[in-house]
Amino acid sequence: MTAAPEPSWAEPTLARLRRADAARCAEIELELFPADSPWSARAFRAELDSGAYYLGAYDTEGALIGYAGLAIVGRPGEYEAEVHTIGVTAEAQGRGVGRALLDGLLARADAFDAVVFLEVRTDNVAAIALYTGAGFRTVGLRERYYQPSGADAYTMRRPAASESGGAASRGSEGSS
Ligand SMILES: CC(C)(COP(=O)(O)OP(=O)(O)OC[C@H]1O[C@@H](n2cnc3c(N)ncnc32)[C@H](O)[C@@H]1OP(=O)(O)O)[C@@H](O)C(=O)NCCC(=O)NCCS
Repeated sequence: MTAAPEPSWAEPTLARLRRADAARCAEIELELFPADSPWSARAFRAELDSGAYYLGAYDTEGALIGYAGLAIVGRPGEYEAEVHTIGVTAEAQGRGVGRALLDGLLARADAFDAVVFLEVRTDNVAAIALYTGAGFRTVGLRERYYQPSGADAYTMRRPAASESGGAASRGSEGSS
């Protein structure tokens, strides 16, 4: 019996997101965030032009199946990072792509020894679990943060690598 062929998202490749991916990112946003002002291609291009650190996840055929972006501000010893977005196409979810993207962003933050913040809908169980597993903790609530849905957001924080003894990249559940 021959084994079934591997699906094209089975072994995604991570690489810096390309400006040419902006239109596809906007399509994926529309699928993932229909109620919360999905970003346009222009918004993605503006993010890339701002110097923010964006990664894309590509399937074995080179198609974009996810993206994630991080902005870092500050100066040596006081860097702060913010996760701006992370999304994985519905078909590719639940296969480790989101975690791989987040780990890529966090490695970048750790290279700057940056504390990392993000906002997440309070009802987004999957994303909250992903972030908690990566060492984020809830530090605040922003009411009606998302528009036009009016959904609330948690603010989550992950300590800088030096603050957590250099083991910030995985949550305490995963470290010994
Ligand atoms: C959140 C998101 C990026 C996760 O990406 P993913 O590729 O599906 O996640 P992974 O397969 O890498 O899973 C990583 C962790 O996320 C959590 N997770 C993922 N899917 C989950 C689900 N359906 N329910 C609960 N936890 C889930 C788990 O903690 C999982 O770790 P585990 O496999 O050890 O249990 C993806 O679901 C997505 O794009 N959602 C829509 C967009 C979105 O909400 N983005 C975040 C905005 S703040």
